[in-house]
Amino acid sequence: MNNKKLVIGSDHAGFEYKAKLIDYLTAKGYEMIDAGTYSADSCDYPVPVHALCKIIQSGECAEGILICGTGIGVSMAANKHHGIRAAVCSAKYSTEMTRLHNDANVLCMGARVIDFSLVCELTDIFLSTDALTEERHLRRQQMISDLEDGTFEEKYE
Ligand code: RB5
Repeated sequence: MNNKKLVIGSDHAGFEYKAKLIDYLTAKGYEMIDAGTYSADSCDYPVPVHALCKIIQSGECAEGILICGTGIGVSMAANKHHGIRAAVCSAKYSTEMTRLHNDANVLCMGARVIDFSLVCELTDIFLSTDALTEERHLRRQQMISDLEDGTFEEKYE
């Protein structure tokens, strides 16, 4: 058991998986913050995504999980936020690698793409894998931040 705090969000397409994943992770001892959406009614996914990203940016949670139909829309919206490295995953290998090499801090999944048992498996991998600290990985992550900050060209070109 652990007492780590996680934030989770979804749109209507991911609403059912979000509820089930909250139960799954709560049973494992995680403290869950639900960033919405709060019903199965159709909604605009950037709204819960923005709520989730603000919680990570505040430092209250280090990691988050987002679910929409494909995982793609929520990842695109999340990656517009400073300091957010969101990865859409539907395979165990890429879930592990995005933690090891990209230090992803938001896992995005598609409820219309993978079944719930795989959602649980990918979530477990995401939460149990730490980023590698080799210089090349840190350098590339820094370069992503530099793209975000508008300092990329002055530093590398
Ligand atoms: C909603 O129908 C769907 O477009 C959304 O969940 C997501 O898949 C967008 O990327």
